Amino acid sequence: MLLEVKDLNVCWRDHKNEIQLLKDITFEVERNQCLGILGESGSGKSLTCGAINGLLDESFQVTGNAFFENQDLLTLKKEQRRKIRGKKIAMILQSPMTAFNPLFTIGGHIAETMCMHLQCSCKEALDQMAQVFQRVNLSNPKMIYAKYPHELSGGMLQRIMISIALSLQPSLIIADEPTTAIDYVSQKEVISELQMIREQSETSIIFISHDLSLLSHLADQIMVLNQGQMVEYGPAQDVIRSPKSEHTQHLIQTRRLLVQRFNHYMTNQHVS
Ligand SMILES: Nc1ncnc2c1ncn2[C@@H]1O[C@H](COP(=O)(O)OP(=O)(O)OP(=O)(O)O)[C@@H](O)[C@H]1O
Ligand SMILES: [Mg+2]
Repeated sequence: MLLEVKDLNVCWRDHKNEIQLLKDITFEVERNQCLGILGESGSGKSLTCGAINGLLDESFQVTGNAFFENQDLLTLKKEQRRKIRGKKIAMILQSPMTAFNPLFTIGGHIAETMCMHLQCSCKEALDQMAQVFQRVNLSNPKMIYAKYPHELSGGMLQRIMISIALSLQPSLIIADEPTTAIDYVSQKEVISELQMIREQSETSIIFISHDLSLLSHLADQIMVLNQGQMVEYGPAQDVIRSPKSEHTQHLIQTRRLLVQRFNHYMTNQHVS
């Protein structure tokens, strides 16, 4: 087992209030498997991954266990977690623009991240990245290295973020709604890239989405969250075909109605 999360609880507190944001989240990710996390906005998807990866600040209290390659991530010191983050667990974030420091060129960004994790020279880092760029259909790496983040499209930045994640050869990629900020064509490219990663490497993926049809293409297992609690968890096809919880049934039904309405609209338009 690559990742085993048990009874993950997250509370947020200030000097007056305490709010429980995640309650007893328990799941596993096997090697070379994809876990899909489904849930409406605010259900706790990003928080779950942030807690596992040590990205929450001191106002959050995190309890439970998150065994990653048999080490409990939640008990590790900051420095140890920082080493695991990026190198062994890579994250592809919801909004590509915020993942890049606007003051660095893409080349500067790549060199800094890769030199830190792979202990190589800047030149080696950039040469290696040029090869990974080919895999995600990014041509002319030298031109891209010289650009600042705001000079590139969301789709390109997303592919650069995927390239950085790939080049570090992590055991786990956490993709937090990686397609929300980009157009439909780039979405398809990102999804097929993630599918390729699964076919060509041992990497496991946690894919966060509120889009069930996306998850049905990628995920082996699906966990559904609602208001910080796990309401459904099992093999993807079982969850989609025969959901047990009312909430999942509601999500699937809503999606079905939306597709029906869309098809109806398109057919009628076609006729007239
Ligand atoms: N920094 C924070 N301080 C206080 N509460 C927070 C903070 N970040 C998240 N929360 C709360 O935790 C809950 C879960 O948030 P989370 O970001 O995990 O949702 P999500 O499922 O990822 O939603 P989305 O699909 O919109 O990204 C929400 O109720 C949110 O208000
Ligand atoms: Mg989120």
